[in-house]
Amino acid sequence: MKTAIVYFSKHHGNTKKLVDAIAAAHEVTLINAADGAGASLKEFDRIGLASGIYAGSFGKPLIAFAERELPAGKPVFFISTSASPSGKAYLKSIRRVTESKSCKELGAYHCTGFNTFGPFKLVGGTAKGHPTEEEIQAAVKFYENL
Ligand SMILES: Cc1cc2nc3c(=O)[nH]c(=O)nc-3n(C[C@H](O)[C@H](O)[C@H](O)COP(=O)(O)O)c2cc1C
Repeated sequence: MKTAIVYFSKHHGNTKKLVDAIAAAHEVTLINAADGAGASLKEFDRIGLASGIYAGSFGKPLIAFAERELPAGKPVFFISTSASPSGKAYLKSIRRVTESKSCKELGAYHCTGFNTFGPFKLVGGTAKGHPTEEEIQAAVKFYENL
């Protein structure tokens, strides 16, 4: 099954650690939403959409990429990292796009990621050391179980 993961990971590369581990273990094409403007998703059987969470939302470049390039009806899965341990509420931002294109959702993986945004920098950041190796391997397992 031909798989692409489009990712956006600008804060500490937390989300990129997850998708890099998946791509190291499996044949997956990684596309950085920040510079993959011309990339087409048509040839893939399923698409992963992976992002850090910024102000309650998947990254804007990732959302714009999905709005532009995600073919209607393509199966999708989601991967995210945020300071908060629960990622459920943040899925709304990307589901708005995938549901409007009638894309079937295969699953979602979320874990915490080191955060030094705004005032959190003053206290040395939150979710230090995350994603952990265990969380990274859990993302690989998630992918394997899709
Ligand atoms: C501008 C900005 C806004 C953020 N907003 C949220 C937020 O709304 N909720 C949250 O739990 N974490 C928030 N975070 C923390 C990031 O989601 C977290 O550090 C994530 O792992 C970053 O992923 P990345 O390193 O792949 O970019 C924010 C971080 C930044 C820089």
